[in-house]
Amino acid sequence: MLSFVPQEMKDPAPYHLLTSIVAPRPIAWVSTISASGISNLAPYSFFNAVAGFPPTIMFSVAYRRHEPKEKDTLRNIQEIDQFVCHVVDETLAQAMAQTGSEFPYGVSEFEMANLKAIPSVDVRPLGIEGSPVAMECKVTQTVRVEGTNNVMVLGRVLRFHVREDLYRQDVGLVDTVRMQPITRLGGPVEYTKIGERFEMATPKV
Ligand SMILES: Cc1cc2nc3c(=O)[nH]c(=O)nc-3n(C[C@H](O)[C@H](O)[C@H](O)COP(=O)(O)O)c2cc1C
Repeated sequence: MLSFVPQEMKDPAPYHLLTSIVAPRPIAWVSTISASGISNLAPYSFFNAVAGFPPTIMFSVAYRRHEPKEKDTLRNIQEIDQFVCHVVDETLAQAMAQTGSEFPYGVSEFEMANLKAIPSVDVRPLGIEGSPVAMECKVTQTVRVEGTNNVMVLGRVLRFHVREDLYRQDVGLVDTVRMQPITRLGGPVEYTKIGERFEMATPKV
């Protein structure tokens, strides 16, 4: 086995190694809004579910190396503590990538990526028309991740929106394979599509 010690590696080598190991990662396509009503969209793959009830998710925002250090998403949630988290399917992949570009604060990525914004029900940030699943969320915590350059944002899901053909009524699940989410692998350009579903029960002891 090769062995690597992060402290002995040059930044960003540990990031590359880590993101290719903790993979594939789902992508949170996060919509926020400023107090003055300017919308923002950005993808985050340091993203996961952290609690089932009430359903709670997290994503982690890094500070930029250059000014302004604070990403627009973080700035917005400090003004309006809400966000909408979308799933990126194969049809939306290119648009999602465009919204990962560092547009200046005040520029709406909805316009830059030609996405239609739709009003949400319980929160102020807008939804993305055509996204297969959206989760309207209220921020419950922002956690400065000790010793790092990241802030973890935790949010409680107030409302799920699921495209009708994706909902498996009998089991209360989304048909994830049919949804065709794209997920992220290592480094800045690698992604993957979903594979095959198989079933396996946890043995009872
Ligand atoms: C697929 C993808 C995943 C990303 N994941 C993260 C992430 O987890 N954390 C992060 O800070 N930036 C991540 N980025 C970069 C941000 O999306 C990028 O910095 C964006 O410009 C931030 O936008 P904002 O300033 O409008 O919030 C990712 C980019 C892409 C394309």
